[in-house]
Amino acid sequence: MTEATKNDTTAQDALKTLVGRAALDYVVPGEIIGVGTGSTVNCFIDALGALRGQVVGAVSSSLASTARLQALGIPVLDANAVSRLAVYIDGADEIDGRGYMVKGGGAALTREKIVAALADRFVCIADASKRVAVLGGFPLPVEVIPMAATQITRRFAALGGVATLRLRDGAPLVTDNGQQILDVRGLSITDPLAFESEVNQWPGVVTVGVFAHQKADVCLLGTAQGVRTLTF
Ligand code: 5RP
Repeated sequence: MTEATKNDTTAQDALKTLVGRAALDYVVPGEIIGVGTGSTVNCFIDALGALRGQVVGAVSSSLASTARLQALGIPVLDANAVSRLAVYIDGADEIDGRGYMVKGGGAALTREKIVAALADRFVCIADASKRVAVLGGFPLPVEVIPMAATQITRRFAALGGVATLRLRDGAPLVTDNGQQILDVRGLSITDPLAFESEVNQWPGVVTVGVFAHQKADVCLLGTAQGVRTLTF
């Protein structure tokens, strides 16, 4: 890693910490909160330790976040035990000017969408690099049933996208749900609502990483000038 790259990473980490802390303002005392996944959310969970006594519990979107919450003594509830959440706090790989997002860089997109669907409000926490004009620059994660991976790859090719199977340690990555992830490059997603609806109904797609129907209501964007609050 060059010195310049190291500095960029440090600056980005500082912004993640900043927005992770800022998200505490959206935690409603006495309520169960929805918690996402990723390095930005890890900053939020770490900050949440300070409010431990006020947080009744959390519904988590991944085994990794569950472990981190439990290590802080925050009870983690099954999503089936909860009928509504006041707020869901999660990061994003990309967010546009309407609050539409690409998510799933951490392979947790399916559970993230499920927990987000329980929440009255989606608060996205992100550093400024995640703000884009059009979704699709970040390879789009799609969780798939393994036997459908090749036909889904062909369908993306017909849309001009190149899908590759995500690997970990040389083998296909297996999600918390026992499925696989395709990462799709080369897309320009100009109509996220229509795109999400279309891809979701392809046989074998578990979840597409476009969060348009489940968009952000608020984004706390970490910038060099501080936290910018964007509402959609
Ligand atoms: C995990 C996600 C994350 O929210 C997204 O990948 C952003 O992660 P990070 O905060 O590490 O940049 O969708 O599936």
